[in-house]
Formats: sequence, C-alpha cells, structure tokens
Amino acid sequence: MGDNGSIQRHHHITLCVGGAQEDYDFHTKVLSLKSVKKTALYDGTYPIRHMYYGNDHGEESTLVTCFPMRQSGRKGKKGTGQIAVLKLAVPVSSLTFWGKRLKDHGFAVTKSERFDEKMLQFEHPCGIDYELVGVADDSRTPYSNGEVPAEFAVRGTHGITVATRELEGQEEFLTSGWNARKTNSDGKHVRYVFGDGGSGKIVDVAHEPGLPAASWTFGEGIIHHCAFQVSDFDVQDAVKAGLEGLGYTDVAERKDRGYFFSIYVRTPSGALFEATVSRAEGFEVDEKYEDLGRTFQIPPVFAGQKEQIMEFLAQEPLVY
Ligand SMILES: [Fe+2]
Repeated sequence: MGDNGSIQRHHHITLCVGGAQEDYDFHTKVLSLKSVKKTALYDGTYPIRHMYYGNDHGEESTLVTCFPMRQSGRKGKKGTGQIAVLKLAVPVSSLTFWGKRLKDHGFAVTKSERFDEKMLQFEHPCGIDYELVGVADDSRTPYSNGEVPAEFAVRGTHGITVATRELEGQEEFLTSGWNARKTNSDGKHVRYVFGDGGSGKIVDVAHEPGLPAASWTFGEGIIHHCAFQVSDFDVQDAVKAGLEGLGYTDVAERKDRGYFFSIYVRTPSGALFEATVSRAEGFEVDEKYEDLGRTFQIPPVFAGQKEQIMEFLAQEPLVY
C-alpha cells in the first residue's frame, strides 16, 4: 500500500479571528470571497460561530474558515509551533489593483518577493499575517459574483508558512508522512509541495530558532490549522496508519464535520494539520446552491439546543 498522491492539495485553512462582523466584512468585502456557510464549531460544550469563505461552490483549496473569538475574550499568541502566514493566490497582473484596494481600505501593505514570487504582505484586522501572491497560471475558478471582478479575484490558497524552531522533525513529517517533496529554499524558508506543486499545493517552513512558542488553543489572532484534501476514506486511513507507523500516535479518529470528514495530527513543528475527505454533496448537504452561506446552519451535534445557540449568537449579531 503506497501513499503516493495521498495528500493532494489544501482543503481549507482555519483561523481564530476577532469580531464576527469584522471578519465577515474583511473576507466577503475587502477580499471579495463568497460566504459559503455560516455554522458553528462541532466540538465543545458551547458554540463558537464558524464561517466559511470560498468560491461559488466552496471547492477544496479555495476555503478559508474562521472562528470569531472576541465574544469569548480569548486571545491567541503568535510564534513558533504554528502556521504563521496564510498565502492567497491572485493573478500576477492584479497585484497593483490589490495593493491599491487594500490601501484604500486602510491596510498597511508591504511589497515583497520570495521564491521568485511577487506578493503583498498585510494583516487581517485581528493581526493574522496574510500574503497575496501573484500567480500566472492558476486554473481554479474564483467567486463569480464578488465586489472584485473575477479577472482580479482571489483564486484560493497559495500556500501556508509554518514557523518552527527546528527544521528536522518537520521535514521528516512532511516527506515521509504527508507525501510532500522538498523543492528549494529562500533564506530561512524551505518549500515543500504536493504533486507538481503550484497554488494550493505549497507548505513553506520558516526556521525561527529564536522565536517563542505560539498558543495552540482557540484564541483571537492566530491560524488554528490547515486541512489537506485526500480522495477517500481508504487513503485517509492509510495516511493515519502511515503516520502511526512513523511514531505519530496521536492522530485523531475520523470526525464527521458535516461537509467533510477529518483526521487531525499535531506535527513536530507544533502546527496542527488535518487530512480531509469531502462529502459528495459538499456544502449543499444542508442548503441549496442558491442559498449557500445565507442562513445559520445548526450543527447536528447541537440540534437539541437550537434556542440557546441562536440566543448566544444574537449577543454578537452579524449584519450581511
Ligand atoms: Fe479543519
């Protein structure tokens, strides 16, 4: 049983953000992504809102998902042992447009270049580091009905940057357990890709030996985890067994996340990774395509507590 091709590309990336409205406006207005789903975290004893953004159908590797944490008052701490940067892909010809748009919306933008890729660096309003990377050949279809015309629009994830104090363990994990291959390095950054690489198939590892450790719990201002797409349960089981064979014995059992099925593993760097199988119906399992992301969907695990959940969410109302 080989694991060639097991990890295909990113599936979604999940952030712990600040206010729900602030995050909703940032992703749907400034970045012009579609609201694909409004629901709540499926774990725990009290609800945390969970908002999904992506392209028209919420396809794999276009998805950014957010837990607004301001209502809880819990703050996260940035550092090592964490995914430090979310890189989103935009057409390289649109970087000037995006630079102006972000500045017009009040964001401080820095132009930069790494791995021969031009990019704009800025922060989410809650402090999470973003990079808009100019890409020439991204075949993914962007959201067709956003403020930003499709020709300039965000295509989906480009990569993530994992910050770690030690490179060694993470390299073994990525190449032996997560089906990645190392391509090249640029300063303190080492690049790993899946398959042929390109947008949605990149993990960069930044060597930060002097940087203190980040927080792992849900708290405002950090990237919580990155999920990667696998094709089916057999492959997902094989990834889990492969990791356990390498000694990563803490891989969680498969969980039903409503729109997909997930296993999770804490990588040697400290960053949390997920391997995900999409449900065939995707986000249309509980809403029609025309209604995607419009109304709050009660997670089945909280079905008996609808009133309490709606009451809790009403304390931080979302206008859209
Ligand atoms: Fe996830």
